[in-house]
Amino acid sequence: MLRDSTYDEQPNTSLEQIRYPDIQKILDDAVEGQDIGAHGAFWRQLTRDQFVVKKVFGCSIIFNENGKFNGPRSPLVQILKAPIECPVGRERPQMPVGFPPVAPEKVQTISDWIDAQCPA
Ligand code: HEM
Repeated sequence: MLRDSTYDEQPNTSLEQIRYPDIQKILDDAVEGQDIGAHGAFWRQLTRDQFVVKKVFGCSIIFNENGKFNGPRSPLVQILKAPIECPVGRERPQMPVGFPPVAPEKVQTISDWIDAQCPA
């Protein structure tokens, strides 16, 4: 069967591996490409290796258990869904402050990417 050319325009799906630039794009879109205050758009200039160990205000954004990254337990995933406490004793509002919440399927993409061990 011939493939319709519109298939080429589909966004990243599970058939195609999600990579770090896809995550950077989701986060950039979440703040409409703006330069933000507080911690700034920290993902924009970081390499993948810097991103996976990044702390924001003392909060490790990616949960690492014995060298294995875990999406659902990562504050980066959790804080896009609801307020969290991170690190212990520090209440943080849901992100991104001042912008609409990130769509659940995009948050899931970030979680899946982390579970896949954050391919560059
Ligand atoms: C675990 C990761 C993160 C932590 C701990 C964190 C923490 C914070 C804190 C404490 C503030 C200041 C809140 C306030 O002013 O009341 C803030 C502001 C903000 N954060 Fe986050 N954040 C995280 C991730 C993110 C992500 C991934 C995004 C974007 C998708 C984001 C977007 C923003 C924006 C837009 C603001 C407002 C900046 C401004 O005032 O101009 N944050 N964040």
